[in-house]
Amino acid sequence: PVGGNAPVRRVSDWDAARLRELAAEHGTPLYVQDLDRVRENCERLLAAFPDADVRYAVKAHTGRAVLEAVRDAGLDAECASAGEVDRALAAGFDGSRLHYTAVNPPARDLDYVVDAAEAEPDITVTAGAVDTLDRLAERGYDGRVCVRVNPGVGAGHHEKVTTGGAAKFGIPYDRAAAVAREAAERFDAVGIHAHAGSGIDPDQLDSHRELVARMGELARELAEPSDETAAPLDLEYVDVGGGFGVPYEEDAPPLDLSAVAAATREAVAPLPAGVDLAVEPGRYVVADAGVLLTRVNTVKPTPDETVVGVDAGMTDLLRPAMYDAYHPISNLGGGRDRDGGDAPAPADREATPVTVAGPICETGDALCRNRALADPFRGDLLAVGVAGAYGYEMASQYNSRPRPAEVALDDGTATTARRRETLGDLTVVEREAASDGNRPE
Ligand code: LLP
Repeated sequence: PVGGNAPVRRVSDWDAARLRELAAEHGTPLYVQDLDRVRENCERLLAAFPDADVRYAVKAHTGRAVLEAVRDAGLDAECASAGEVDRALAAGFDGSRLHYTAVNPPARDLDYVVDAAEAEPDITVTAGAVDTLDRLAERGYDGRVCVRVNPGVGAGHHEKVTTGGAAKFGIPYDRAAAVAREAAERFDAVGIHAHAGSGIDPDQLDSHRELVARMGELARELAEPSDETAAPLDLEYVDVGGGFGVPYEEDAPPLDLSAVAAATREAVAPLPAGVDLAVEPGRYVVADAGVLLTRVNTVKPTPDETVVGVDAGMTDLLRPAMYDAYHPISNLGGGRDRDGGDAPAPADREATPVTVAGPICETGDALCRNRALADPFRGDLLAVGVAGAYGYEMASQYNSRPRPAEVALDDGTATTARRRETLGDLTVVEREAASDGNRPE
């Protein structure tokens, strides 16, 4: 069995020859997602949290093959939109394994989910505002509901992804019990939920622990109200969110998952009888199962550094531009010198400080800055590691760039999971609008 703390998959652990082959066959930029690694990560989570509900936060990677692997591994699906619910249903998650976390949900999304709940009545809708509960009731929904709480503490790799404590998310802690009780009068109230943030590193465990402790306290208050006039609630679970960090730097230690699990169980205890712990990691499941392959097309020495132009940019992998996120980059070679001869193998080259920049017209469009990389040659293939979470998912068509292709590796066999977009894909919605006479939908 896979232990709780198996080593992370580093970019150097990938089979470089295989990656070169895939890039030659499918072109670049190319995402490669290893389903075997996804399964291992699922097993590791289930082993660390044997008596908890483990839910995969679908937003980290919504690809069909990934969802099916996660479903087969036995995780539930946590969805952030109608689109994610639609994908999870299509991938075979039944309603009892579907959790829709509604944050200021658009009417279309609520309509979709309330409709879906007709066929799959075990879907759970997590609401973080009384207005959301009212809007569900207006639609005749009386199914399973979970109340999202803002416990006032957060954590995460960047302030932009620190959710706990951010006013946007959840019912303020001091009103949460009252709202949960009200919800129980109108719906089948099954749980309470909070999420500290994304990319919680080992040194932020204290905030995670505090959030979990507050949720445990709330669960006890709801099960056995201090106010004797309040009716006790029969909850099924306390969901303490996701956010388990993965190391991006080559020398960063991996999160000790068993320690996180132990700290979580301890902080939430004692849980009222019949109430389970739930967690909903996204990044942990898919991050180190993915790499982004990109080809060097320009090598430009400047007085300070060498600028390495590649065919992937912020439209393919937004994280460095958006959060100054670090992704490991490895030069897999294969380039040529200016005379057309084979460049030396990367291991035989000097390391040079480089900025790896994409083709987009923004200064922020760099995958790394001033990083030592085996002296690059035009035609080299670069592997950008730990790109499986929030990689393809955050890709856009900005600068009229078709989104990249993605290959799924299953027991070594590669299949095209997402075909590369074409220039035609870029204009399909406007051509269709024109052929419909440009009338409102
Ligand atoms: N549950 C909820 C309610 C969430 O909002 C999220 C992530 C998760 C679970 C999963 O968090 P994870 O285990 O993946 O950290 N684009 C950013 C990350 C945004 C995460 C948003 N919410 C990034 O690339 O770092």
